[in-house]
Amino acid sequence: MELISEVGTPTTTDVPSHAAIRRSTHRRYLMCPPTHFDVTYSINPWMNPAKPTDQPIAAAQWQRIHDQLVDLGHTVDVIPPVPGLPDMVFAANGATVWGDRVLVARFRHAERDAESASYLEWFASRGLHVQQASTANEGEGDYLSAGSWLLAGSGFRTDRRAHLESEQYFDRPVIGLTLVDDRYYHLDTALAVLDDETVMYYPGAFTSGSQAILRELFPSAIIATAEDAAVFALNAVSDGLHVLMPAGSTDLVAKLREAGFLPIGMDVSELLRAGGGVKCCTLELHGPAGGR
Ligand code: ARG
Repeated sequence: MELISEVGTPTTTDVPSHAAIRRSTHRRYLMCPPTHFDVTYSINPWMNPAKPTDQPIAAAQWQRIHDQLVDLGHTVDVIPPVPGLPDMVFAANGATVWGDRVLVARFRHAERDAESASYLEWFASRGLHVQQASTANEGEGDYLSAGSWLLAGSGFRTDRRAHLESEQYFDRPVIGLTLVDDRYYHLDTALAVLDDETVMYYPGAFTSGSQAILRELFPSAIIATAEDAAVFALNAVSDGLHVLMPAGSTDLVAKLREAGFLPIGMDVSELLRAGGGVKCCTLELHGPAGGR
């Protein structure tokens, strides 16, 4: 079977012949280098300020994610890092972007509050329609676009009231999903959108009501195990074919291949000390105009 790739990736023989044909589409991302990366406070269970971090290792891991996305043909913009903001590397949290509309984050914790100013400035200087969320809203950490839906997490960071604001601001239907396990404190730690109809997720991170919504909306979802979730494998970025994901899961990788995707494992061990992985580092500039 031939895989169709619009970003010029080689076809592969790894994919089962009965698998669906997956197609990659060109994406635009915004990333922030981990120049000032550190764990100096703890706002999620992965963060332990007593354990030393290694900035050069974090930088190398980040660079590989960046370069892999570029090699796949995607456009990656970089926002300048700010001293004293060690979590700014997690650009996914900076905003939610759809076309020329940008809703910049309002962080739950004071430690990250000052990041918003950089995103307001970066997007405004590109002539986009920019507004800051009025209640706690951690951008694409908690908002994932899937086809016509905007999936929206709450429970730990983003306020439920922010979902209504996002629905009105983007004029897109928002599906609220409630997280219950504090290790999976953002939606993107428990669910990844693979293409317009397909997601992968760890059910145990959600209330039973939210699990029922996910079953209904995504009957062909790939279901991850507790072990997959624990290595942060769901913190993944997909272009519709390639799935860049934290390395370490075997089951989930096999299920992705079986479904016709091409998983690419990335070492994020150092970034994980702050509770971050591949998707956390990557803000997708979604939508018709690709964020422009
Ligand atoms: N230390 C950061 C925090 O707790 C990690 C953010 C990870 N980002 C994400 N999109 N899940 O806020």
